[in-house]
Amino acid sequence: MKKKNKPESEMMGYAYDPQLSEGSAKVPLFQTSTFVFKNAEEGKAHFHIAYGLREKAENESMSLAYSRINNPNLEIAEERLKLWDKSEGCALFQSGMAAITTTILELTKPNTLILHSSPLYGGTDHFIEEVLPKYNIKSMYFDSMKSLKSIIEKKNKEFPEIEVSLVYIESPANPTNSIVDIEKSKQLANHFSTKKDKVYVAIDNTFMGPVFSQPIDHGADVVLYSATKYIGGHSDLVAGAACGSNEVISRIKTLRVFMGNMASPFTSWLILRSLETLKLRMEKSAENASKIAEKLKSHKNVDKVHYLGLVSKDSPEYKIIQKQYSSPGGMISFDVKGGEKEAFKFLDNLNLVKLAVSLGGTESLACHPYSMTHADVNVDTKISMGMGESLVRLSIGIEDADDLIDDIICSLDTI
Ligand SMILES: Cc1ncc(COP(=O)(O)O)c(C=O)c1O
Repeated sequence: MKKKNKPESEMMGYAYDPQLSEGSAKVPLFQTSTFVFKNAEEGKAHFHIAYGLREKAENESMSLAYSRINNPNLEIAEERLKLWDKSEGCALFQSGMAAITTTILELTKPNTLILHSSPLYGGTDHFIEEVLPKYNIKSMYFDSMKSLKSIIEKKNKEFPEIEVSLVYIESPANPTNSIVDIEKSKQLANHFSTKKDKVYVAIDNTFMGPVFSQPIDHGADVVLYSATKYIGGHSDLVAGAACGSNEVISRIKTLRVFMGNMASPFTSWLILRSLETLKLRMEKSAENASKIAEKLKSHKNVDKVHYLGLVSKDSPEYKIIQKQYSSPGGMISFDVKGGEKEAFKFLDNLNLVKLAVSLGGTESLACHPYSMTHADVNVDTKISMGMGESLVRLSIGIEDADDLIDDIICSLDTI
């Protein structure tokens, strides 16, 4: 039996035949909107599959037709991304929000309820709180650290008549690094599934995936990414991804055809470049972050550090972290002593670390979630989820750890 290589070994060549592209060692950029069919039958087969009029037969590969539907750069990047999550299917999008909203729209329907963890990325929160209610899709927050029984009771008490259509979670959550139990979320989805309607679990795995966490192993049905972050990794592209079974991804891809929000050939090509160094980059940023978190912990102007590597062994989260994650990752948030004034002072005095939103790039970034990425989130939700005005979020890059520590500590000293 042929030995299966690790994903990092496959990122340079998987799903690409150089002989189909003049021997080019690297995947060329297929900057074209349309493709020439061999014959009319091929054109017919393509559109019948793309529009969901029939399923693809076993071993049937879909021909290329039009870059809103498929393109070699898009497809090869999807094939490679799948390897990390060990998923059957993957769909790349033009942004993380496109991946999230298209998946939610496909898996939910009017007059139903979404059960979700909190906090969520500000854009996702806005979509669930402000956009979906227009289609009479309601939402209820649940805390996965509570018992399954108490979550079910809460739903039955607050929304007795409404059918659950989706369990949506984000773990570790942006920006607090709080953890959601994927297995319990799956049990919750199973409880509300019926013979006719399966309730899916979708998880935003942007902070840890795909290298340090494979949520499908714990029961997730769809794994979502802002590929703008670690997957893209150089802060030079905006993209998103959804990974899951063929069944669910082909549904999501069909909706993508009509939303027209696929990743472009150039974005997909950049992602192919980025995937080659994904593991190296994520490991280095996690190594740097562990050192920085240790220093922050003992600084006089820091109140609390929220970092997976510092979670106490006796907390309920610890076991879940051990189960779900193979590293504490590269994201740190911490509360400065004081409030917005002190947090801004810290941010304004950084030099090497740039003051910017986004995360997962080669360079370290710092931001103030309360007034920036999560400005739109309800104030009560922010406060109850530990996202106050003193919170600062750091995305640690791949610079020299000592240089980063000097910059961060010098800036903290100025408060
Ligand atoms: C956890 C998380 N999910 C989703 C998104 C949205 O991704 P994008 O900006 O690529 O649309 C972000 C963006 O910051 C994020 O941090």
